[in-house]
Amino acid sequence: MSEHELRVSKIRNGTVIDHVEGGQALNVLAILGIDGSEGLGVSVGMNVPSDRLGRKDLVKVEGRELSQSEVDVLSLIAPEATINIVREFEVVEKNRVTRPDRVAGVLSCPNRNCITNADEPVETRFEVVADGVRCDYCSTVLRSDIAEHIDV
Ligand code: CTP
Ligand code: ZN
Repeated sequence: MSEHELRVSKIRNGTVIDHVEGGQALNVLAILGIDGSEGLGVSVGMNVPSDRLGRKDLVKVEGRELSQSEVDVLSLIAPEATINIVREFEVVEKNRVTRPDRVAGVLSCPNRNCITNADEPVETRFEVVADGVRCDYCSTVLRSDIAEHIDV
């Protein structure tokens, strides 16, 4: 890194979500349910130069780790993301996200007539397909607007 580059600081304890596709950082925060009111330290880098992706976004959250269902949904909008767990300033774990075969109970179906939107105790279930996720009940496919249908 050259001395002219400005980077967000290292964190002491928490999670760094790195190699997020440019433009998706705010959706990452939405998936994690972070809007600042939690009082967590959060740093966001947008369109940071990256060898692998050209440009990338990254999100650093202090004092918080991620649940598997959050990682599953992240993988849908940021398939190249790396999740780094930081403890006492050291990266102690680094994992690439993997796209799950299905996600249950984390996304709402955009089809208002879907059984999952009726007043029934039915958990949402989507199959992960090449171009998005498909509702098991009504076959509606959610594509680019996945982040707006998060229920976590
Ligand atoms: N990081 C951080 N605070 C720390 C340690 C690391 O914010 N105390 C961040 C780094 O700035 C980087 C990410 O966590 O964005 C991963 O750190 P590291 O594994 O050290 O960097 P790289 O080797 O460049 O990662 P990769 O190989 O995944 O690109
Ligand atoms: Zn549906």
